[in-house]
Amino acid sequence: MIANQPSIFFTEDHGKPRSAWALEFKNISKSFDGNQVLRDINLAIEWGEILSLVGNSGTGKSILVKMLIGLVQPTSGTISVGGMETQGLSEMEWMPIRKKVSMVFQANALFDSMTVYENIAYPLRQQFDLPESEIKDRVAQVLEWVLLPGIQHQFPHELSGGMRKRVGVARGIVTEPQVLLYDEPTAGLDPVSTTAVDDMIKRFQRERGVTSIVITHDLKSAMNVGDRVAFLNDGVVWACAPPDALLALSDPVVQSFFEGYRMAMELLQ
Ligand SMILES: Nc1ncnc2c1ncn2[C@@H]1O[C@H](COP(=O)(O)OP(=O)(O)O)[C@@H](O)[C@H]1O
Ligand SMILES: [Mg+2]
Repeated sequence: MIANQPSIFFTEDHGKPRSAWALEFKNISKSFDGNQVLRDINLAIEWGEILSLVGNSGTGKSILVKMLIGLVQPTSGTISVGGMETQGLSEMEWMPIRKKVSMVFQANALFDSMTVYENIAYPLRQQFDLPESEIKDRVAQVLEWVLLPGIQHQFPHELSGGMRKRVGVARGIVTEPQVLLYDEPTAGLDPVSTTAVDDMIKRFQRERGVTSIVITHDLKSAMNVGDRVAFLNDGVVWACAPPDALLALSDPVVQSFFEGYRMAMELLQ
């Protein structure tokens, strides 16, 4: 088990034993205006695990993950984060969870009018009351983690797409979350930047015991970073297994979804 496990979720008044799962979806369904997107999702993620979440566009990957920080409410079913059931929580009650669970968004908009420093300091200022010297240290540290040291004074428009993504990730991790949710962190990136982001996701797991869900269209990334890969299809978790086991499944839907990836890998061998 990972040393760096969340404690905030398990305060004295909670009193229950530590949950076996970092994140758990139980019988989750979601409809919009009678149109059912998710049907009875059951999925649990271990402490310190990286789960890749793949599936065609519009299958509900983003809304599923947004439920973990209370941005989307399930139509039915329950979600627990760090062993804490989240249904019916008020905005106030979500706040301690959002300090521990950070989401790196698909359209990872940085504030154009702010420097990299102010962009990254923003969530620290929102969530904590820290002296400027500590903010400065933390911003410098996360920029080193994403391999962009010393760019504090630059503005987003001065950076490449790959650098902006990594600044977005730096902003996501500066609060030292124990759970990181990435929504297409490598979309639109060149292969070198993609590898840098993938390596970073794995480094947070290895060095800091961070639990992650990574939504991605890049099956190579999904297979590379995920301890397990969950394939969302037709509103359900169609398959969820470690990469090799998933590729070995004979199910025709799985085979067809991963066919392009498999062929690319065979070409490399
Ligand atoms: N606020 C909303 N209102 C209505 N429909 C929505 C809303 N958010 C998402 N949807 C629908 O839910 C489906 C899943 O969306 P999403 O989770 O963004 O898919 P994915 O991330 O897998 O591409 C889409 O068909 C989308 O149109
Ligand atoms: Mg999405």
